[in-house]
Amino acid sequence: MTANRTAAALSELVDKLDGVTGKYESARGLPPECYYDEDIFEVERQAIFMREWLCVGRADQIPEPGDYFTITLVGEPLIVVRGDAGTVRVMSSVCRHRGMIVTGPADGERDEWLAETSETKGNAGRGFRCPYHFWMYAPDGKLIGAPQMNRTPCFNQDDPALSLPNFRTELWQGFIFVNFDQQAPSLADRMGPVDELIANWRLSEMATEEPAHLANLPWNWKIMHENSIDVYHVDRLHFPRHAVLPGKGYRPLDVDTKDAAIVFAHIATHKDFALSPIGTPLVPVLANLTDEERERSYVVFLPPTLLIILNSDSAFYRVVHPRSAGVIDIRQTLMVPKAYRDLPNYGDLVEVGSNMHMRLNYQDYMVDAQIQRAAKSIVAPRGPYAWNEDAVSGFDEWVARRYHSGATAGAGSHPAAEVSTPELDFTH
Ligand code: FES
Ligand SMILES: [Fe+2]
Repeated sequence: MTANRTAAALSELVDKLDGVTGKYESARGLPPECYYDEDIFEVERQAIFMREWLCVGRADQIPEPGDYFTITLVGEPLIVVRGDAGTVRVMSSVCRHRGMIVTGPADGERDEWLAETSETKGNAGRGFRCPYHFWMYAPDGKLIGAPQMNRTPCFNQDDPALSLPNFRTELWQGFIFVNFDQQAPSLADRMGPVDELIANWRLSEMATEEPAHLANLPWNWKIMHENSIDVYHVDRLHFPRHAVLPGKGYRPLDVDTKDAAIVFAHIATHKDFALSPIGTPLVPVLANLTDEERERSYVVFLPPTLLIILNSDSAFYRVVHPRSAGVIDIRQTLMVPKAYRDLPNYGDLVEVGSNMHMRLNYQDYMVDAQIQRAAKSIVAPRGPYAWNEDAVSGFDEWVARRYHSGATAGAGSHPAAEVSTPELDFTH
């Protein structure tokens, strides 16, 4: 992928964005090539994924000092780790010596050489030891050991450039976010109005169930999100499973997060609803909700990765991480108050609830995979939107604005290349 090709793809694309206004009354969808063209994905990598806050998971997945998990975001191998003082860090897993993935496997059979590096989790103890030459890094990324390097005059173990780069990290409502751009405005600072709206769910205190990891799903990251925030289809594709949250319940909300989130409410057919087989919660309704809150869902979407749905008895989240234009990984699970884990038969109840969610999800995934195939059709549409697809047209416009700013950032010959080099924070 050359910078020239990326720039050419971007300049061709911006000419086609006029109809992407964000207003359902008149908006058209994004051009079909935005869903499969690798040059456009490279534009998105630089103008979106290297600039926005990306969710990697939940803080309670690493409760103790040294607890960590690894994750790969747009090709960047990362370690998410809790430090001694409780700080949560997201840092690179690329060894500062010759570039081995520090948390990668050291041994394996023939097929494993060819396979992608698997993600791991555990407790780092004293730190992370690179399996290649045993350089040792503390849990905060600092280099604390490098065998036989004492004969190398230019080697200085304390050189900050030899620590694993720590990327900007923020916690919001118990979710961990990373940003590769040092200049990006704080996420948590912009989310105040959402904090107020969803305060009664006490999301940061909720316990996170083990997320399901669905890898290599064959559709574009925007198709996944557009499907998740489309309220038009719920009465039709999902009939009758979604009846308690009907399409007519869509309510756009004017919540100003300075472009960090798209938020709407979804009014249910009755108080204390649930997307369970019986339409009511299998676990107790959350203790602090008002009557109004017990009759609605809130959907909080933080593009480009995180979708949260707050229901009367629990909350659900899904993170979407693209690998390429047409392939994503998703991780999704439920969150409930910690005390619910002590309920009799809690595991069975979660299983029933999850099965129902998965049946709904599978219908969505069938659609997503087919939309991806059809995006390459010579007659692929840029159709008009229904009133309750208003969040979808709003998201398309969110994306289009970033294509535009990618183009503006590089008024010279390599528009997208201009935004490709984030300044890294090597401090600890
Ligand atoms: S590459 Fe990691 S120690 Fe050499
Ligand atoms: Fe759906």
